[in-house]
Amino acid sequence: MAVDLLLGLQWGDEGKGKIVDVLTAKYNIIARFQGGPNAGHTLVFNGNKHVLHTIPSGIFHDKAINVVGNGVVIDPVIFKKELDKLNEEGVDYRKNLFVSRKAHLILPTHRLLDAASEAAKGKAKIGSTLKGIGPTYMDKTGRNGIRVGDIESPEWITKYRQLADKHCTLINFHQASIEYDLDALEKDFFEAIDLLKSLKFIDSEAFLHDALKHNQPILAEGAQGSLLDIDFGTYPFVTSSTTTAAGACTGLGIAPGVIGEVFGIFKAYTTRVGSGPFPTELFDDNGATMSRVGHEFGATTGRPRRCGWLDLVALKYSCQVNGVTQLMMMKADVLSGFESIDICTAYKHKGKEITHLPFDIAPEFVEPIYKSFKGWNEDLTGMTTEDELPIHLMDYIAFIEKEMEIPITIISVGPDRKQTIFR
Ligand code: GDP
Ligand code: IMO
Ligand code: MG
Repeated sequence: MAVDLLLGLQWGDEGKGKIVDVLTAKYNIIARFQGGPNAGHTLVFNGNKHVLHTIPSGIFHDKAINVVGNGVVIDPVIFKKELDKLNEEGVDYRKNLFVSRKAHLILPTHRLLDAASEAAKGKAKIGSTLKGIGPTYMDKTGRNGIRVGDIESPEWITKYRQLADKHCTLINFHQASIEYDLDALEKDFFEAIDLLKSLKFIDSEAFLHDALKHNQPILAEGAQGSLLDIDFGTYPFVTSSTTTAAGACTGLGIAPGVIGEVFGIFKAYTTRVGSGPFPTELFDDNGATMSRVGHEFGATTGRPRRCGWLDLVALKYSCQVNGVTQLMMMKADVLSGFESIDICTAYKHKGKEITHLPFDIAPEFVEPIYKSFKGWNEDLTGMTTEDELPIHLMDYIAFIEKEMEIPITIISVGPDRKQTIFR
């Protein structure tokens, strides 16, 4: 049995949460492998919307075990809020949510450091979600971090104090005017630690190896998107983890050889939240329509998402880096009503036409080259089979498949679980 991967191919918010939820019925284990509460994964079913940040998107299925892997960074305070919400919704998470002892903790001072670092950067800020992601991964690679397994013994408090004190010095170093009440933040933090401690901690790599040995199907859930990857994204406007396929190996302790299908999720257009280059970004009515119809506001921060046409140069790059075997196209319904729809097929780069992603895709280096497609007016949101889809949408899909040389196996036509067309 293999581990299938599900990853975002753009700048995040492609609809990963929805598809993980849809696919969970086929898996015994759903395992998140990187990122933290910077993620916001939305699930809609039975008329209700649920947003998850750290908890894997299989949590609403009774039978699936949900694993928070070693590559994830956990903010106990946000984690507690998620758990409290699940409790209110009647989800008995204690029996099917396991946490890796090797996952790192986001401390209150990591969040403050994130804010101080962004404030100090001024106009050059990353547009971080301010959840402390960068500083926590910095402490991880700097070998200063505190892990879930540490809180099982009382000595961790000494380590906590030393690290938090060091962070306070660093916050002052940034000379950004950040106001905070650390005592209040720590009160919430330690309360949340108590709840975290009551969960089942596991050596998740051993747990997953054992599951594989017993032929249990596993789905690894990615957060963010490939263009936010620390190595392959639009650096420095990226997140601090490996969001691409390799991140599943390091974030769960699985070998490359056990990876089966790699599901690549993309929106039928493109969005980005935060700073950084975005060649196909639209500043016209078309962009405004995508934003309005697609309700393009961040699930974690509520910030408006920047919108633009589909970028096949970037999509091809993401497929290559991840070894995508199946594509899943989301939010096709949002494109209904456009007279014509553009796809970026190449960039003009230093006077030449190129079809690969260059080192820098800032506007001064690349200009998108488009191919236009006829739009369609039909409302897709009630459609349940491929046969019902408008011919011009089928042309759009066929073009993408031909260019990517990868089949599109799911077309999503609305946020609900049921608004999913399998091909
Ligand atoms: P994730 O971070 O990749 O899980 O995606 P988000 O949840 O941040 O953002 C995706 C948004 O699009 C959410 O509000 C979803 O409910 C919504 N969504 C997902 N699939 C579709 C779709 O096919 N059509 C429409 N209209 N909305 C969708
Ligand atoms: P999901 O899993 C969209 C973006 C932020 C910022 C950059 C760095 O919901 O797709 P960070 O807080 O990680 O230091 O921010 O990355 N970003 C996301 N954008 N979806 C996400 O997650 C994101 N997680 C981080 O907006 O530009
Ligand atoms: Mg999201």
